[in-house]
Amino acid sequence: MNRAHSSKVKKALIPAAGLGTRFLPATKTIPKEMLPVADQPILLYVIEEAVRAGIEDIVLVAGRGKHAIEDFFDRSYELEDQLLKSNRVDLLERIQNIRNMANIISIRQKEALGLGHAVYCGKPIIGQENFAVLLGDEIMYSDPGEPTVVEQLTKIFDETETSTVAVMEVSTEDVEKYGIIAAEKTAQSYFKVHHVVEKPRKSEAPSALALPGRYVFTRHIFDYLENAKPGKNNEIQLTDAMTELATHRGLYATLFRARRFDAGDQLGYLMANIELSLMRPDIGPKLKTYLKGLL
Ligand code: G1P
Repeated sequence: MNRAHSSKVKKALIPAAGLGTRFLPATKTIPKEMLPVADQPILLYVIEEAVRAGIEDIVLVAGRGKHAIEDFFDRSYELEDQLLKSNRVDLLERIQNIRNMANIISIRQKEALGLGHAVYCGKPIIGQENFAVLLGDEIMYSDPGEPTVVEQLTKIFDETETSTVAVMEVSTEDVEKYGIIAAEKTAQSYFKVHHVVEKPRKSEAPSALALPGRYVFTRHIFDYLENAKPGKNNEIQLTDAMTELATHRGLYATLFRARRFDAGDQLGYLMANIELSLMRPDIGPKLKTYLKGLL
């Protein structure tokens, strides 16, 4: 799909402050968002998705391990000098491109009070602007030339000026893992959201439409986060503020098109590594032969 980038959504916020307990001890000193999938950290896939949608400023809300993230987007004189001297130009360019992709602004979430709180931490930098939120441990793979999930959201946002989130259909067993929307179909390609329930029990889920972690919001979400009380699991939930947003300002949801990997989960992480490595022309064919032999 060819279209001009959104002129209404130029900022994105990436919460990357989780403790990464599912990956301990690997995540004792580095954040899970920095774990490699093929040859790049999970976080870089997420940032690439945003940048492909025309996002220019990225606010990273980090907790522990903030320095590893900051260093990744900073200049590394010694490394770059070495690569230059050894004439590794391709690698050098790749390293340099990373820090020129977008303006990366990092802030720290001082207390782990929940996803809603992490998003609220970005308010001083997002200000009055519309913004995307991308969870830092979900990889959404779109083929080159296809719109990324953030782009699918900003397209609807540009037309409607209404906050819009991505949803996917999950099995009844899985509703307990996600924010689930109650919504009605519209004549368009999106749903109108009534309310959102954070990780409902199977019997209480209003639908099987789950939030995978891609959102575009107007600044109004901050009004509802500011007054948010702790919800499910005693955390400030983004989904509670989304219910307020849906009630007072409107909220749409759309079924996204992309290959999704929950890289915050050990199995999902391995699947991301295998599939994304299989796509690479240098190692893909050899990996395929190896996997065939193994199975
Ligand atoms: C968070 C959100 C939830 C969303 C999920 C997607 O939960 O609270 O609404 O569906 O991310 O991964 P978490 O997985 O951080 O517990």
